Amino acid sequence: MSRPVTVRVPAKVNVRLAVGAARPDGFHDLANVFLAVSLYDEVTAAPADGLTVTCEGPDADQVPLDRGNLAARAAEILAKRSGILPAVHLHIDKRIPVAGGMAGGSADGAAALLACDALWGLDTPRAELLDICAELGSDVPFSLVGGAALGTGRGEILTPVPAGTFHWVFAVADGGLSTPAVFREFDRLAEGRDIPAPEASPALLDALASGDPDALAATLANDLQPAALSLRPRLADTLAAGTRAGALAGLVSGSGPTTAFLVRDAESAARVAAALEASGTCRTTRVATSPAPGATALPEG
Ligand code: C5P
Repeated sequence: MSRPVTVRVPAKVNVRLAVGAARPDGFHDLANVFLAVSLYDEVTAAPADGLTVTCEGPDADQVPLDRGNLAARAAEILAKRSGILPAVHLHIDKRIPVAGGMAGGSADGAAALLACDALWGLDTPRAELLDICAELGSDVPFSLVGGAALGTGRGEILTPVPAGTFHWVFAVADGGLSTPAVFREFDRLAEGRDIPAPEASPALLDALASGDPDALAATLANDLQPAALSLRPRLADTLAAGTRAGALAGLVSGSGPTTAFLVRDAESAARVAAALEASGTCRTTRVATSPAPGATALPEG
């Protein structure tokens, strides 16, 4: 019988999330600059008679264990394509905030795909794994690839971009925000306005490559932020508390409600995290660096 396989997979933050008008298929064209950060989930695939999912971690009770879980869907799609039964137990060690705008669900989909591929000895070509990721969700291909990348289309068409090291603090809010609801609010706020084609600014890409946190702080932007703030006005207090505590810049991460703060170094990260926790404007904080590697199988043992 095959040995269990564990895959570690990072969370992401978007340093530029440019959103275009709604497309006929309901999705939005994006220019989405992803950075993988050093907050990880681990997904273990073990032989089993059928498909089951379990989860541990501080927010495990908020994670669906049915087919609504992208890890389960990844196993099903891979098995179907390969003409086998999805006989696997998936265990998720959940450290990435749930429904937080950090692609935690997408991360588990990418990790489960890689873990099942290894468990079942399929050796699926990388391009095919990326196709399955895109079928699972717009952010899932990036969870597989990691590092730093520009995502176009609905975010699934990836071009790697150079990135220096940056330090981050994440403020985790109480409760999640639904990504479709945030995009709907974006559409509502955009009604009657001309939405330009989404673009990643050259200044942001230069700042990212240079590793200069002041330059990156000046160019961070998220077009979904007004929509997230409209649905969750108290996030403005969290953003203000982070910048007051010495962050170089703060923004809503993806569709939120996690907020991300760019800081100068590890010492500043610890100070800003402590101040945010003391401010009472968030549930908890996490400190991380970018870029981080994409989904990776851990050595056995
Ligand atoms: O691709 P994913 O399943 O993660 O997307 C979740 C939802 O977010 C979509 O159903 C859609 O409402 C919204 N979305 C969007 N445009 C994108 C990505 C996501 O409108 N580029």
